[in-house]
Amino acid sequence: MNRVEGRVKVTGLATYAAEYPVEGVTYAYPVQSRIAKGRVTHVDVSRALAMPGVLGVLSVEDPPELADDADAELALFQSRDVAYRGQLIAAAVAGTYEEARAAADAVRVAYEPADHDVGLRADHPGLYRPEVVNPDYPADTEQGDVEAGLAEAATTIDVTYTTPVLHNNPMEPHAALAVWAGDGRLLVYDSAQGASIDQDTIAKTFGLPPNRVRVVSRHVGGGFGSKGTTRPHAVLAALAARAVGRPVKVALTRQQMFDVTGYRTPTIQRLRLGADADGRLTALEHVAYEQSSTLVEFAEQTATPARVMYAVPALRTAHRLVRLDVATPSWMRAPGECPGMYALESAMDELAYAAGLDPVELRVRNEPETEPESGLPFSSRNLVACLREGARRFGWDRRDPAPGVRRKGEWLVGTGVAASTYPARRMPSQALATVQDGDFLIQVAATDIGTGARTALTRIAAERLGVAPDRVHVELGDSDLPAAPVAGGSMGTASWGSAIVRACEELMKDGKEGRADTTGEIAADTRLARHAFGAQFAEVRVSEVTGEVRVSRLLGVFAAGHIVDAELARSQFIGGMTMGLGMALMEETQTDEEFGGFLRRDLAQYHVPACADVESIEAVWLEEQDERLNPMGSKGIGEIGIVGTAAAIGNAVHHATGHRVRDLPITPAKILMPRF
Ligand code: MOS
Repeated sequence: MNRVEGRVKVTGLATYAAEYPVEGVTYAYPVQSRIAKGRVTHVDVSRALAMPGVLGVLSVEDPPELADDADAELALFQSRDVAYRGQLIAAAVAGTYEEARAAADAVRVAYEPADHDVGLRADHPGLYRPEVVNPDYPADTEQGDVEAGLAEAATTIDVTYTTPVLHNNPMEPHAALAVWAGDGRLLVYDSAQGASIDQDTIAKTFGLPPNRVRVVSRHVGGGFGSKGTTRPHAVLAALAARAVGRPVKVALTRQQMFDVTGYRTPTIQRLRLGADADGRLTALEHVAYEQSSTLVEFAEQTATPARVMYAVPALRTAHRLVRLDVATPSWMRAPGECPGMYALESAMDELAYAAGLDPVELRVRNEPETEPESGLPFSSRNLVACLREGARRFGWDRRDPAPGVRRKGEWLVGTGVAASTYPARRMPSQALATVQDGDFLIQVAATDIGTGARTALTRIAAERLGVAPDRVHVELGDSDLPAAPVAGGSMGTASWGSAIVRACEELMKDGKEGRADTTGEIAADTRLARHAFGAQFAEVRVSEVTGEVRVSRLLGVFAAGHIVDAELARSQFIGGMTMGLGMALMEETQTDEEFGGFLRRDLAQYHVPACADVESIEAVWLEEQDERLNPMGSKGIGEIGIVGTAAAIGNAVHHATGHRVRDLPITPAKILMPRF
């Protein structure tokens, strides 16, 4: 199907959060901390207040009222303590954006700085084991004897990988427009991945009952996790609007986004693997070191995919976290699986070389019968089928395993493979289906963040109702609609689609209206290991002269249940794979050790891949029947595309050059360095 909102998007008629025409709108512009740790001793707003058009300045000098239990990242201007450089400490409100920006610049802040620590190290004295990792997995797991397994192994490897801070960069910068109605009800147009959860969080932050807050997010220009939780810009808009008694718009700049919209924690990951003479794993240990802020504990689930992937008698996974003077990390596409599988799948490649085995064959030999950590049966798996199908399409059997020997002029050529996995979850959702003028209206507080959710849900409803898709209209992106979970965790379609199917079934019984809430249905789901799987293949050329890596081919083969719409699915998969390419070769935000905060803060410095960065990119999938997931038989596809791609590219770089770069991104300097 073509996207149902395609026409309004390409004609510029789709309205995004910052674009709603609201009478009497004003603008807030933030003032950010220039120190990484310490206290704000004084905020001088006198010059700012005297400037043209200025309606007010909010700051820690005069803390606005917020509920006590507000999330510390959202409790704006409540404390004089500075937790990280770039934290919002004041904001100017004025009649135009330019006036607000000028006034914010005129706010004078005096600080009492303290020594900061923004460096993640595997030997940091502040490292500790968190209770759980995101969202609620145990931090550590251990079964069997890893040391004994390593001691008896014919081949062992002990390797450490590092990944940098990474930032989501959705095309639509974060923005919110807040309007307080006369009756005290708050309306927020927000660039958010979930209207219902945003409504709940904003209500909690302001100490309001949820039904006093309405969030509208009809069109969202990407999020990738950075809009999955309420961000400070939305709270600022609502606080400022309350303070000046006018609607207030906050539109973050790209540079501001780097400070207050979350980021992927850097990781240090140590992998110890042992295999017997046949290449069967005897031990696997995956330990991840990562950071959070002093404000909120966010513990990324980096080592969790090792609990899912391979049969091994001794398996240990662990997470260690350190609270630094940094902003709180947050969700970024496939949190956990993405960096974790980069390390695990690179280590599997290293083990294959050490054991003299083909890397596809090594993975096939270690295919488990049940989920390694839980012992639960898989609802479906098909990783081996993905590897075999990918190998066939890619021409893997013609591959010479010797690294560093294929040359075309200055270019060294190599290929690599890695596996992918991502959980297939669903969450309770409500939906309402009604007959309207002979057509069908589906209402759900889902969000389309550019994935094509409207289109997929239209198709799901049309198929269930047995009507043409053009007779179905899906209304979403508004918390006044039936409550729904976030567009995140690759579970949007599975969650909202389940509720829509049930609502359509009710409608067909009744003829007029069908209402559904899947809470009970999901609570009754049997315990099974539900995951999507995939295999990623990459071919690269590496210049011996410049160290530049060019990706000539990427192929992803996925097993993700029933694919609701081929065109939308392809777009999700290749989008994820392209992000994986960015992670492998270019994406990196450097932390400023001297002053705190980040050194790269725009798209001129934070490089993301474009079409010209991959010559051929192809995503295909297996027909997978899995009835134990949800009524569509679908697994989420939003995130699995990025998982494994960076490892496949890194493994291909090693095959091309004979040199293993274990520190992402693989820049030209890291390729050339060993020669000097
Ligand atoms: Mo995604 S990181 O679950 O928005």
